[in-house]
Amino acid sequence: MIMAFSSYNFNPFLSFSFSSTTTTTTLLPRLYSIKLKWKSRTSTPFGSKVVGSSIRSSPTQSIPVESPSPSGGSKTMTSNSSALTIVEVDLGNRSYPVYIGSGLLHHPHFLQKHLVGKKVLVVTNTTIASLYLDKVIDALTRDNPEISVETVILPDGEKYKNMETLMKVFQQAIESRLDRRSTFLALGGGVIGDMCGFAASTFMRGASFIQVPTTVMAQVDSSVGGKTAINHPLGKNLIGSFYQPQCTLIDTDTLTTLSDRELSSGLAEVIKCGLIMDADFFKWQEENINALLAKNPHAIAYAIKRSCEIKAQLVSLDEMECGIRAILNFGHTFGHAIENGVGYGQWLHGEAIAVGMVMAADLSLRLGWIDETLVKRIHTILEHARLPTSPPQCMTFEMFKSIMSVDKKVADGVLRLVLLKGTLGNCTFTSDYDKETLDETLRSFCKF
Ligand SMILES: NC(=O)c1ccc[n+]([C@@H]2O[C@H](COP(=O)([O-])OP(=O)(O)OC[C@H]3O[C@@H](n4cnc5c(N)ncnc54)[C@H](O)[C@@H]3O)[C@@H](O)[C@H]2O)c1
Repeated sequence: MIMAFSSYNFNPFLSFSFSSTTTTTTLLPRLYSIKLKWKSRTSTPFGSKVVGSSIRSSPTQSIPVESPSPSGGSKTMTSNSSALTIVEVDLGNRSYPVYIGSGLLHHPHFLQKHLVGKKVLVVTNTTIASLYLDKVIDALTRDNPEISVETVILPDGEKYKNMETLMKVFQQAIESRLDRRSTFLALGGGVIGDMCGFAASTFMRGASFIQVPTTVMAQVDSSVGGKTAINHPLGKNLIGSFYQPQCTLIDTDTLTTLSDRELSSGLAEVIKCGLIMDADFFKWQEENINALLAKNPHAIAYAIKRSCEIKAQLVSLDEMECGIRAILNFGHTFGHAIENGVGYGQWLHGEAIAVGMVMAADLSLRLGWIDETLVKRIHTILEHARLPTSPPQCMTFEMFKSIMSVDKKVADGVLRLVLLKGTLGNCTFTSDYDKETLDETLRSFCKF
């Protein structure tokens, strides 16, 4: 299958190739190569300017943490953590900005300029409502008396990411007389974002939607790219849609109340971004992991920005995940099996993904696609990030096999996996791997 990306020009730094069974990131072009289109802006909260047009431009500012090497940064890196960075998700008439900065919720115009209609339904949960709901309502309504805000406060937890909870959102939307011109606003982590987005995408066949993510996981991953979903007892995220928001607003100050365990969980997705696409970013993480764990605002802001850039690039190229976007699922097939196997909410998403990345790396090593040094580096950074590196004992070989067989990446009965291949920063999405070697990996991680 040749993807519709052939119009992009060759970029000597990063290109992708496509074949019927495999999608690969590589330093050299194979079948097709594409230039990563890039738009990123930095500004004060009161205005913005375009400062970067290339993914691999050199950083121009210094920050009080180890700087990334010149080939891995971008001109949008800010020396002042309160400055605003805008990452653009380039999707034609569905393009939207991701605003990143400290204190952004104090500046109402970011949210207000993206409102459609006069009614807003804020979807949040019991934990976040007490922390940030008033702030968001103020940002929506300050000097804007025409706007009326309704709220629905859901129970907190992955185990509530289901049809029953979704119905509470619809119930509130209907009782509040929302219509197609109303806006749904997700205030919370990935669970709220996924559910609110799915509700917005289906309510009256589609209402507007804004993301205000409050976990690292949601800020670096789930609030960008338009994937929405709820879980089914048989599998994670099996019911959902692709539906892009009007904007994503990341106020990094919200992370001050996030627990250490949730912080680490989010860092798993940051580490993933380096592993699949950006060796320099991964090296920067190795050098700055302590700053990230300490919530150093400069380090956190840079990690969020770079992760959003990587995600935005992949989404812009392949919104519906027909090819290259799938590499963002590195570690997720194994990880989703763990989340489902132990029961939703027992393990945090990022914890399961961390183990999934270790298992995928093990398979890559057994296939001879990467060397042992890289596997060791993956173990080391995950351990430093306080993430697990082996599955819980209750996960058996048969459980992995059975749950992985209903993964969304199964096509025509064959499981496709994202595996590392080549030097750090390269990976492949493929069904072309030895299935017995996969069994060897699973057996090596399972006692039974
Ligand atoms: N749509 C996507 O592309 C995508 C990508 C990655 C993950 N996800 C989904 O995201 C979910 C995981 O997201 P998550 O890790 O954010 O979990 P989460 O939404 O459950 O949030 C984690 C916990 O932190 C609390 N919390 C949130 N913000 C807080 C804050 N600022 N201060 C204090 N507590 C706060 C929440 O109430 C919750 O208890 C999973 O369901 C996963 O499938 C989706």
